[in-house]
Amino acid sequence: MFFSSPPMASISIVFLVLSITFVAGRAQPNEPSRVRLGTSLTYPTSWPSPSHRFAFGFYPQGSGFAVGIWLVGMDNNITVVWTANRDDPPVTSKASLDFTKDGKLVLRTEQGPEQVIASGAKGPASYAVMNDSGNFVLYKNDSKITWQSFDSPTDTILQGQTLLAGAELASSLNEGDHSTGRFHLRMQTDGNLVSYPRNSGDAASDAYWNTGTSGSGFNPNGFLFDLYLNSTGGLNLVNQSNSATVYTLNDHLFSSGDINLDNNNNTIYRATLDVDGIFRLYSHTYNENRNDRVHLLLSTLENSCDIHDFCGLNSYCSAIGSKAGCSCYPGFDFINTSNKFLGCHQNFNEDDCRRSEDPEMLYNVASLENMSWADRPYSVKLIEERGCGKSCLVDCNCGAVLYTDTYCSKYKLPLRYGRIRNVTKPTTAFFKVYHPHQVHEVLIESKRSLILILSIILGSFLCLCLVLATSSILVYRHKFDRYRKLTENVNLGLAEEFTLRLFSYSELESATEGFQEELGRGSYGAVYKGTISEGGKTIVVKRLEKHVEEGDREFRAEIIAIARTHHKNLVRVLGICIEGNRKLLVYEYMNNGSLADLIFKAERPPIWKERIRIALDVARGLLYLHEESEVRIIHCNIKPQNILMDDNWTAKISDFGFAKLLMPNQSGATTAAEGTSAYLAPEWEKNSLISFQTDIYSLGVVLLEIVCCRRSIEVNVSTTDEIILSSWVYDCFAAGELDKLVKDETVDFRTLERMVKVGLWCVQEDPTLRPSMKNVVLMLEGTINVPIPPSPVLSIVVS
Ligand SMILES: *[C@@H]1O[C@H](CO)[C@@H](O)[C@H](O)[C@H]1NC(C)=O
Ligand SMILES: *[C@@H]1O[C@H](CO)[C@@H](O)[C@H](O)[C@H]1NC(C)=O
Ligand SMILES: *[C@@H]1O[C@H](CO)[C@@H](O)[C@H](O)[C@H]1NC(C)=O
Ligand SMILES: *[C@@H]1O[C@H](CO)[C@@H](O)[C@H](O)[C@H]1NC(C)=O
Ligand SMILES: *[C@@H]1O[C@H](CO)[C@@H](O)[C@H](O)[C@H]1NC(C)=O
Ligand SMILES: *[C@@H]1O[C@H](CO)[C@@H](O)[C@H](O)[C@H]1NC(C)=O
Ligand SMILES: *[C@@H]1O[C@H](CO)[C@@H](O)[C@H](O)[C@H]1NC(C)=O
Ligand SMILES: *[C@@H]1O[C@H](CO)[C@@H](O)[C@H](O)[C@H]1NC(C)=O
Ligand SMILES: *[C@@H]1O[C@H](CO)[C@@H](O)[C@H](O)[C@H]1NC(C)=O
Repeated sequence: MFFSSPPMASISIVFLVLSITFVAGRAQPNEPSRVRLGTSLTYPTSWPSPSHRFAFGFYPQGSGFAVGIWLVGMDNNITVVWTANRDDPPVTSKASLDFTKDGKLVLRTEQGPEQVIASGAKGPASYAVMNDSGNFVLYKNDSKITWQSFDSPTDTILQGQTLLAGAELASSLNEGDHSTGRFHLRMQTDGNLVSYPRNSGDAASDAYWNTGTSGSGFNPNGFLFDLYLNSTGGLNLVNQSNSATVYTLNDHLFSSGDINLDNNNNTIYRATLDVDGIFRLYSHTYNENRNDRVHLLLSTLENSCDIHDFCGLNSYCSAIGSKAGCSCYPGFDFINTSNKFLGCHQNFNEDDCRRSEDPEMLYNVASLENMSWADRPYSVKLIEERGCGKSCLVDCNCGAVLYTDTYCSKYKLPLRYGRIRNVTKPTTAFFKVYHPHQVHEVLIESKRSLILILSIILGSFLCLCLVLATSSILVYRHKFDRYRKLTENVNLGLAEEFTLRLFSYSELESATEGFQEELGRGSYGAVYKGTISEGGKTIVVKRLEKHVEEGDREFRAEIIAIARTHHKNLVRVLGICIEGNRKLLVYEYMNNGSLADLIFKAERPPIWKERIRIALDVARGLLYLHEESEVRIIHCNIKPQNILMDDNWTAKISDFGFAKLLMPNQSGATTAAEGTSAYLAPEWEKNSLISFQTDIYSLGVVLLEIVCCRRSIEVNVSTTDEIILSSWVYDCFAAGELDKLVKDETVDFRTLERMVKVGLWCVQEDPTLRPSMKNVVLMLEGTINVPIPPSPVLSIVVS
């Protein structure tokens, strides 16, 4: 049973074969055993060097095998030092290497033509040797070398090996894949030894390390230098014309320890351009048991962030200790999250900027300290720091700006060789990030299943409540205690942000101290301020007072739909309470009052930019209700009193979701008309018809109010033409006198005209002319053009 196990069997075969080859090698100690013409090789046999420290043959790479030379280490660990045709795909275990009768080394695979790996460059080969230096050599019949692997190094030179002037080492792709990677080290014909990212074009600014051994200071006459690794681990630049050492790298590299280089027969030196682009010198020390210990001796760089292109385009390197990592700039995502070295791309479409009349509306600014990158700015200006970030938003060519010492430099994408570094002058980089309302949709999507679970739990819980409520009134008190315990224990275990709490009536009664502090009385009931006992969070409790004919179950479904809405520009529902006839909703408390306070009552109304932002906030909140929430919701009561401002002065729509709930027969005009009529669409007043278009009308009125900072109907005005805001605005617009509408000087007339046009489209008496919410948002953002609006009043020919 033990021997029938297939993996064990194959491992034994490997060992058997290996020992046979080793025994064959040992027959003539340290006498290179010749590979004769007509010999062939398949995995796992190999042609070892006399000392068995090196071998030539197939080694495992990826899912197959590659042909190369390796250093044999402990546990049969191998260090690959050379690979034939490194960029060819791996071959299968069926592939064979044949040293043909005509002196060529060819690779035969099942599929595809045979490939010549080596053939005599200076006459036909008659035998081959895997030399103890790690060099695989083809000899002619006069024992002259006709081909050797040392002439075409890949990523490594071994002791005794030369990297000739004009040649290069190229790093491997990764530890397990020796095909050509991302960096190269060039022994340039000007005498300089230089590291560059391979796909960079090798300009001086792409170089991240060099010996500086070219030019007037060192090599004015342009002699050719070679890089030579000598037998004692000296890495030297050697003058080709007189073989003199002109530069010793060892004196200039970072040493990793106190291990002295020595002339020990048991040590093999190896210098490799590693996967990460750093050129390193290693020693492999052998003892009697043919095992090796590997030591890192020297390296060209210590900090990976010094390597250009260590992090790909549009990403930056930061080092914590000896570890370096790559991160995307704000507004960018990794091209491939499982390979963070490949760089990042912008996570929004730059075309939006070109389509938008006012790109500043689309983006926010994000910043990073002490950033540097290699590119040249296309514009450098003297401006203050705030203006520097903003100047990028309005410029579609701008990918990022760098602010240093009053200089604001603009850069195009892609950004190369980014890193955080210790700078002499503090530097701040600014980036565009897309407005968060897009991001939110994704969040909602991912929370949808969570919400589903939540509503199932909630649903079953409410059923339980129903059973309790219909139970005998006599035992009600008794049961109530248990019920309350149950409620308090309902911890749905979700992140605070998405948890909907179930409150008991008594809990809310005590939170509001017996519904004492009434904040206001809306169409659907009174609103009270309260404080939750745990955490001391301030809340708003809305007690629905209309009696509903509908079944409780349907009512609950509606309440849950309201509670499930979640958007930056909607006031959040924290919890609900339904006990018999008592129906209450608990909201977050908005510290900064309503939009009405802000634009009608405040001594100094918000500046133009702020007003534009608020208008967009409101529009985005309404877009969510109309088109993006799970249940499409008509608000029916959009007015500045229902738009609340949070701590950050973000506008949030409140009081949504009750129209359908409390006016099931769609005749809510009487309910909502109290003090609201200025915002009601004409068709509603006439026919009590509710549709999404009625909300758009109300929004239009609000937009115009935000623009002008006055109520839509204002009696206290200089001329009667000004009483009705929408007609006054249209008159000013038609007459080209928009400046009459605004009092402050900071107004940007381009955005003013756009706001006015959008507002006028929304307040069209003909509902079919009003735009959809999506288009309202796109027009406000400046992403699509706003056509010239007609007069909002249905055209009646006046003689
Ligand atoms: C063998 O190679 C692996 C991976 O390179 C390394 O982690 C391990 O330490 C090596 N084993 C020995 C004995 O050198
Ligand atoms: C073969 O190896 C020996 C000992 O390492 C070395 O002296 C000799 O130069 C090598 N020959 C070739 C052609 O690399
Ligand atoms: C070497 O090969 C050449 C041609 O292939 C032949 O003329 C010559 O006699 C051979 N020399 C020896 C020493 O075998
Ligand atoms: C190898 O190079 C080093 C540094 O140039 C030098 O000190 C040493 O003598 C050289 N070794 C041999 C054997 O030439
Ligand atoms: C290289 O060798 C040439 C010829 O011997 C000599 O003239 C030149 O100065 C050498 N260059 C350097 C940098 O040592
Ligand atoms: C290295 O090997 C050579 C030849 O086998 C021998 O002469 C020399 O003494 C050895 N050196 C050391 C340090 O073992
Ligand atoms: C991302 O990188 C991983 C690992 O390098 C690779 O397997 C995967 O195919 C890559 N994904 C894409 C989409 O390129
Ligand atoms: C900046 O310098 C400090 C102290 O020299 C060092 O601890 C820190 O790692 C450096 N930061 C970077 C990003 O190089
Ligand atoms: C940026 O660099 C300055 C100067 O070196 C330093 O004082 C500051 O702490 C750095 N800031 C960050 C965020 O690394």
